[in-house]
Amino acid sequence: MALQAIKYETGSLQLLDQRLLPFDSIYLDVPTPQIAWIHIKDMVVRGAPAIGVTGALALAVDLTNNKSRGSSFSSVQEAVSYIFETLDYLVTSRPTAVNLADSALKLKAVTNEAASKQGSTAVSVVEAVVAAAETFLEADIAANRAMGAYGAKALLEASQAAGKGLGSGRLRVLTHCNTGSLATAGFGTALGVIRALHEQGKLEHAFCTETRPYNQGARLTAFELLHDGLPSTLICDSAAASLMGSGQVDAVVVGADRVVANGDSANKIGTYALSILASYHKVPFFIAAPSTTLDPGLQNGSQIVIEQRPSEEMTHFRGQRVVKEGVQVWNPSFDVAPAALITGIITEKGLIHKQPGDASEFAVRDFMLQ
Ligand code: MRU
Repeated sequence: MALQAIKYETGSLQLLDQRLLPFDSIYLDVPTPQIAWIHIKDMVVRGAPAIGVTGALALAVDLTNNKSRGSSFSSVQEAVSYIFETLDYLVTSRPTAVNLADSALKLKAVTNEAASKQGSTAVSVVEAVVAAAETFLEADIAANRAMGAYGAKALLEASQAAGKGLGSGRLRVLTHCNTGSLATAGFGTALGVIRALHEQGKLEHAFCTETRPYNQGARLTAFELLHDGLPSTLICDSAAASLMGSGQVDAVVVGADRVVANGDSANKIGTYALSILASYHKVPFFIAAPSTTLDPGLQNGSQIVIEQRPSEEMTHFRGQRVVKEGVQVWNPSFDVAPAALITGIITEKGLIHKQPGDASEFAVRDFMLQ
């Protein structure tokens, strides 16, 4: 059973249909940006970094195949307009994760630079954009590996400082949603930190939440942990308090869809509750997110647009109605862990430091300027 969310070679993009996991492993072709948009919206591919990489590669495939590497554009300006419009369109697929907007911003910069070069042509602009998009896959995997190393060290130090652990030097770690190979180009962010702890012989046990209502934890994270042979247990979302209260959690590590200037971090619904539980039980609570997830343009979490998902995700289970017709539902896909409750934010460039003299906020803008 495959754990590779995205398969790419020049001119071809395929996505593992995550709606069918963990039982069926089927790859869907992504020949156009329009199909990519639908697959992102419908959760064929999900997870902030995977969405960001998918959008970039969908444009690359489109430019490579449908626009014959730029030869069908009549001018540089036409190529530039098409690339900008396509990126703007892709970004509208899901609002909360910032990674796709980050991909778009980077590819627009590449487009502008290529277009302004002396002797540029539509073909040279398209080639520059395709080449840049193709680097995103490898860059994401490298970022996850680096986060794993920084994160493992940070969790070990913070748990020890908090007096957690069994004395064996190994940690029992709780995570939420799916942040693994399936949510990224490979290895994972928060799950990458757990994988790194395991590689170092420092993981006693991983706990993952079901992550209702879409069950990314039960269907995807539990599957990844089992697949890789990590010692792990699945819990109901509502069991997290009891688990922490009974002293079985040494650290919590989750991913993020958007980390804003003060460190407030949007992530899968239930993350806010876990941050409060961790604070109450004095368990270190970490966010692991690549720099593509940082959004210093927003000052605090109240400015983050939270995606509302279809009510069917709550009223139906595998196509079967389980809630009486007429019942109203509220289904926000994400919530925000306040910076004040976050012990550390792990990135591929190291940990983001706190604001000098203010432990309740992180200096995300300064960190990005380093
Ligand atoms: O709705 P999803 O499945 O896309 O939500 C995913 C999450 O919330 C992840 O924790 C986040 O995107 C980080 S993935 C490395």
